[in-house]
Amino acid sequence: MKLRIAVVFGGRSTEHEISVISALQAVQSMDTEKYEVIPVYLTKTSEFYVGKGIADIENYSHIPELLKNATRVIWVREGSRVNLYRFPMKKFGDSLVSGVDVVLPIVHGTNVEDGTLQGFFGTLNIPYAGCDVCSSALGMNKYAMKAVLEQNGIPVLPCSVYTWKEYEESDALMKDIEDRYAYPVIVKPLNLGSSIGISKAKDRASLADALELAFEFTKTILVEPAITELREINCAVLGDYEKAEASECEEPLNAEDILTFEDKYMSGGKGGAKTAGAKTAGAKAAGGGSKSGMASLQRRLPADLTPARRDEVRKMAVDTFKALGCSGVARIDFMIDKSEDRLYVNEINTIPGSMSFYLWEPLGISYPQLLDRVIELALKKQREEEKMVFTFDSNVLAGVKLGGSKGGSKTAGK
Ligand SMILES: Nc1ncnc2c1ncn2[C@@H]1O[C@H](COP(=O)(O)OP(=O)(O)O)[C@@H](O)[C@H]1O
Ligand SMILES: [Mg+2]
Repeated sequence: MKLRIAVVFGGRSTEHEISVISALQAVQSMDTEKYEVIPVYLTKTSEFYVGKGIADIENYSHIPELLKNATRVIWVREGSRVNLYRFPMKKFGDSLVSGVDVVLPIVHGTNVEDGTLQGFFGTLNIPYAGCDVCSSALGMNKYAMKAVLEQNGIPVLPCSVYTWKEYEESDALMKDIEDRYAYPVIVKPLNLGSSIGISKAKDRASLADALELAFEFTKTILVEPAITELREINCAVLGDYEKAEASECEEPLNAEDILTFEDKYMSGGKGGAKTAGAKTAGAKAAGGGSKSGMASLQRRLPADLTPARRDEVRKMAVDTFKALGCSGVARIDFMIDKSEDRLYVNEINTIPGSMSFYLWEPLGISYPQLLDRVIELALKKQREEEKMVFTFDSNVLAGVKLGGSKGGSKTAGK
C-alpha cells in the first residue's frame, strides 16, 4: 500500500499565500508511485479542507468558491490510526475521507511554522516531517535563536529586545538603543518573516518611524546594528541530530539595502504581478504565468565564494541546524560584513520556501528525492519516539481523593 502523505499548507499567517505556492509545488513533485498525496488546505480561519480543487493553484484567486466545492475535514485519532473525517459528519453513511500516515507541513510564518501546527500533530501522535515543537519555536523567535547559537559559539550580531509596554516610554527606549549601538540600526518584529515590518534607521527620526512600523505587527521587537557593507548567503541543511548535510550556497542579489517583501515575492517591485521569489523558487512551478513561482528575486547559484568561505558557510549551517535541534530540511541565512570580512548567521527558516529544492539540485539531489528524504526522516523520528517511555506505571492515582480541607493526604509535589 502506498504511504498516505497529507501535505498541509496555508494557516493563520502573513505568509499564507507563499505557503500555498510552496506546498503545491511540492505536491506536483512528489512521487505518486510511492505516495498517495493528500493536499490539505488550512484556511486563515483555521479550518482544514481537502478535495480535487485544493491542488490547483488557479483556484486560490477565488477562495470562497474553492471551499464551496471542497470538503471540510477534521483529524481524528482512532486506535493506531489517524483519519480525516468530513465535517460536519453525515447523519447517515460513512464520513471517513482518508487515513493519513505522515504529515508534511509546508507552512510559513507565525502560528504555523513556529511549533503551533507541529504541536497539533504531536498531540495526535502522527508522524510529521521537519522540526519538532522546540526547534520550530526557536527558529521563529529571532532572539531565542540567537541566544542558543551564541551559547554554541556560532557568530550572531548582538541585539536587544523591547516590548510594546516599553514603547510607551519611547524616548527612553530610543535612548537605550542609542546607548548600545551606533546608527544605522535594524528594527525587526521578533517573530515574523518575509521582511514584514523590518526597516533600517539612520537617525533618531527614522528610528521613531522604524519602531512605529515594527510595533504595528508585533508586541515584541528586536534591534541590532545594521551591516552597511552587506552580502547575504543562504545555505540549506538536510538531516537530523545524527547526520546532516549542507546544500549548495546561493547569494540573493536584490539586496541593495534590505531585501524587502516586494523583492522576495512581487515581480518588478511595487504593483508587479505576484510571483514567488525568495521563499518559492524554480521552474517546477505550481501553475503558470504570474503564479509560476519563478524567482523574481535574482540569485547567484552557486554563490561566488572562495572554497574556504563556502566550506565555512556550509559547516556553520550544519552547526546551526544541529544546535537548534532541527530535522528535515531548513535554510540558514547568513550575512557577511564585507568591511571586516566577517560571517554571521542571520536567521533560520525551518520550513524554507520551495523546501529549498533548488539548492539541492546542483548537488544531484532532485526535488522528489529531497521530499523522499524528508519523509524518511519523519518516519525515523517517529520510530525513535516510539522507543521512548511515555507511561510510567505507578499506583499514584490509586486511592487518591481530592478535596481541600477535608483533605486527601496526597499533594501534587511537582
Ligand atoms: N543586521 C542587518 N544589517 C543589514 N541588513 C539586515 C540586517 N538584518 C536584516 N537585514 C536585511 O533585512 C532582510 C530581512 O531580515 P531577516 O532578519 O532575514 O528577516 P525575515 O525573517 O523577515 O526574512 C535581510 O534579508 C537583510 O536584507
Ligand atoms: Mg530573512
